[in-house]
Amino acid sequence: MDKIFIIGNKPLSGEVQISGAKNAVLPIMAAALMVKGNSKITRVPRLKDTFTMIQLMEIIGAKCDFEGNTLLVNGDNINNPEAPYELVKTMRASFYVLGPLISRFGFVKVSLPGGCAWGPRPVDFHLKALEKLGAKITLKGGYILAEAKRLIGCKIGLDFPSVGATGNILMAASTAQGKTIISNAAREPEIGQLCRYLNKMGANISGIGTTNLVIDGVEKLNASNIEVIPDRIEVGTFLAAGALLGKIKLNQLNPKHLKSVLQQLKKAGCHIEETNNSLTITKANSIKPLNIETKVYPGFPTDLQAQWISIMILANGRSKVTDNVYYDRFSHVPELNRFGANIKLKKNTAFIEGVKEIIGAPVMSTDIRASASLIIAGLAARGKTEINRVYHIDRGYENIEDKFRQIGADIWREKG
Ligand code: UD1
Repeated sequence: MDKIFIIGNKPLSGEVQISGAKNAVLPIMAAALMVKGNSKITRVPRLKDTFTMIQLMEIIGAKCDFEGNTLLVNGDNINNPEAPYELVKTMRASFYVLGPLISRFGFVKVSLPGGCAWGPRPVDFHLKALEKLGAKITLKGGYILAEAKRLIGCKIGLDFPSVGATGNILMAASTAQGKTIISNAAREPEIGQLCRYLNKMGANISGIGTTNLVIDGVEKLNASNIEVIPDRIEVGTFLAAGALLGKIKLNQLNPKHLKSVLQQLKKAGCHIEETNNSLTITKANSIKPLNIETKVYPGFPTDLQAQWISIMILANGRSKVTDNVYYDRFSHVPELNRFGANIKLKKNTAFIEGVKEIIGAPVMSTDIRASASLIIAGLAARGKTEINRVYHIDRGYENIEDKFRQIGADIWREKG
């Protein structure tokens, strides 16, 4: 298994090009399964998760051609509406094929994802919504079977604005008969982009960017092209490193997607310059401790909670970080304490007592964003850090060590 090594406490300076967003491209790829013909998706990050999605799309029958950051999907011969356990268990976002495949085939068989490192992560909202749209759902041998000749539009109120459930409903309802209204819908930028892509394909979705999405069902969608939006979580990860270690300019991004994060970084003492497609961060002289809570968009994202803790462990005093989206998403806490951080966990809140310095250590990566927090801590720590199980990082970050090396980090990978 590959390991990443870091000799820390080196200043960072320079520019980083931001990649396309993982959480935007995965539902877009699933949506391409809904149509015959050629769909061209550009700015696709070369991540383990995009390769897993391609593998799944090929099992389903799509022809995928991935060169550089451009993915061509041909949907002419799609004939197997099934997502096997082997893939769904490695990437929960495989569940995104549920909506597109029931829309195209009137039948779909998808493995239940099971739990994950962040806790149970149920899919009940997805299934309840499909049932409301008229699908017959059965569970057999760990698989969900959903059937409906044609879905019928209806009103769906989500108990929580789930990103995945909103995405699946949007795709399923695009070709349903009549109008579907989703209230309490997720309004993450990645959902906005999915709506725009579906509309380019011929869907009729309005209310984009709000919590009330209205989908007027159409008979059929057609293949279309799209460029994936920038990865706001990658941006936030580099900002966290910049907050501790230097002056970094991040390019090809959308600062509007990071308002809550930029606000907190400024409050913590960082200097931030903003243009319409770049951000430059200069580290704080002394990090001010702040209490934050993760919320759905436009609140502070749970996907940056771990990276934010890596900043706060070096703050000048006490802080608290509460995760309101995923209560158990703290596997990075014991690993960060191995660097000499002082974090105590109580339910879904991390209580952090800032320390003056942290020291490099061997640590273990446990999920995508937890891994990113360990890289940030390793970069800020005195001495050598060894990060094990880095396949988690490769699921969600394109060339992360190369990007950090380009701005002066002493970081390398050893293949194992
Ligand atoms: C997506 C993101 C993930 C991010 C998360 C929250 C992708 C591929 N992944 O995950 O990176 O951390 O949004 O911003 O885009 N819930 C239920 N029942 C359901 C569905 C969700 O109870 O059927 C709960 C979850 O357990 C969680 C909350 O709702 O507590 C939010 O989950 P959700 O927004 O669905 O996350 P994902 O779409 O899985």
